[in-house]
Amino acid sequence: MSDRVPTPAQATRLAETGRFLDVAVGTANLPVHRASTVLFDTLAQAEAAGEAVGRGERHATTYGTAGTPTTMALMDALAEVEGAGHEVRAALMPSGLAAIATVLLAVLEPGDHVLVTDSAYGPTRVLCDGMLARLGVKTSYYDPAVGAGIDALIRPETKLVWLESPGSYTFEVQDVPAICAAARARGVLTMIDNTWASPVFARPFDWGVDVSVLALTKYWSGHSDVLMGAAVVREALWPQLWRAVRQLGQCVGGDDAYLVLRGLRTADVRMKRHQDNALAVAHWLLRREEVQSVLHPALASHPQHALWKRDFSGASGLFSFSLQPSLFAGDARRRAALAALCERRRHFGIGYSWGGFESLLMPARLDGLRSARPWTGGPLVRLHVGLESPGDLIADLQEGFEAMQHALAS
Ligand SMILES: Cc1ncc(COP(=O)(O)O)c(C=O)c1O
Repeated sequence: MSDRVPTPAQATRLAETGRFLDVAVGTANLPVHRASTVLFDTLAQAEAAGEAVGRGERHATTYGTAGTPTTMALMDALAEVEGAGHEVRAALMPSGLAAIATVLLAVLEPGDHVLVTDSAYGPTRVLCDGMLARLGVKTSYYDPAVGAGIDALIRPETKLVWLESPGSYTFEVQDVPAICAAARARGVLTMIDNTWASPVFARPFDWGVDVSVLALTKYWSGHSDVLMGAAVVREALWPQLWRAVRQLGQCVGGDDAYLVLRGLRTADVRMKRHQDNALAVAHWLLRREEVQSVLHPALASHPQHALWKRDFSGASGLFSFSLQPSLFAGDARRRAALAALCERRRHFGIGYSWGGFESLLMPARLDGLRSARPWTGGPLVRLHVGLESPGDLIADLQEGFEAMQHALAS
C-alpha cells in the first residue's frame, strides 16, 4: 500500500485551502471575522460550548449569532467603556431601536406597567403604544422634569422607568440619580437611552441606572455608514437579556462590528470637536432675532443647565432651536418658511440621523409624541453639528435665515 497522502479533488481543495494560517502577525487592528459556522475539534467541545452559550458565558460561541471574535471584542469594549467601574455585560443588536425593543421584551410581562419619559425618542413611544400594549404591557408618560417625584407615579405593577437625558428633540435634562434612587427604593428597574452623550460625556451607571441603551449608529461609529445598537446591563440582568437576545435571534455581522470598533478609536476627539462646533453655532443662534430659544443643555439659559453641569462632562453636537411663533401665520406659511431655511444648504444636509461627521438639520415634528408635557414653543428645528468648520456652518445658516425671511416677506 502506498504511504502517499491522497490528493484531494479540485472541488475539495477549493473548499478547504487558505482557511487556516499558521503564522502569528501582530496588527494594530483585529481581523474581521465573518462567520455563521464555528468549528470544533471534538463533539465534547461542541457540546460544552453549547452549554456555555446557554449560560451566557463571556466569549462562548457555537455559531455566528452567538458571537465571533470581532463581535466579542466590541461587546467587551462596550462593557469596559460604558460600564467603567461597574460589573456590566453588553449585547449587540442590529440597530439602536432593536436594542431598545430587546431590553424591553427581556424584562416585561403581560400586566406590567412602564413609566416612560415624555421626551423619549419617538419610535420608543411607538413600540410602547404598539407591540408592548398588544402584549398587555401598559405605559404611562411622565414629565421629564419629574425628578424624585417619580415615586408618586410608581404603581404596584410598575416594572421599569425609561429615561432619556437629554431628550433628543427638546433636550430636557433629567435628574437621573434622583429618579434611579426613587425607583430602586421601590424595586423598579431603570433604563436610559444614553445615545446623545455617549460614554465620552456621561456615565449612566454612576447615576444608578440598571440598563444603558446606545444607538451605536450615532457617535460610537461616527461615520454614518453603519447601523447598530447595544444594551449594557448590570450583571444581575444579564441572564434575562441574553435569553431575549438568543430567543429573538438578535446579532450583528463582523464587518459592522469592526466599523464600530474603528469609530470608537476616535470617539473622544470627535465628541470634543462636535461639542465645540455645536456651542459656536448655538451661541450664534442665541443672537438671531428669528430664534425664540436655543435648546442646548450647555447654555446657561437652558432650564436644567445646573443638572447638566452636575452630571455630564460635555455636550454632543445635537440640539434644537425654536423659531419665533409670531413670524408665522398659518401652516402653509410655516411650511414654506421652514423649507426655505432648510433646503439647498451648502453644508447642512436634510436627514433624520445624527452622530456622524456631517452636519444635518431637520424640522422636528412632535405630533403624537407628547402627552405629559406638550411642546408649547414655536416651530422646532433640530441641528446635528458635525466636524466641519463652524464658520462655514454659521454662514450656511445665515443664508438659510435670509432665505426664510425672503419666503416670509413674499
Ligand atoms: C435617541 C435615539 N435613540 C435610539 C435611536 C435608534 O437608533 P437606530 O437608528 O440605530 O435604530 C435613535 C435614532 O435616531 C435616537 O435618536
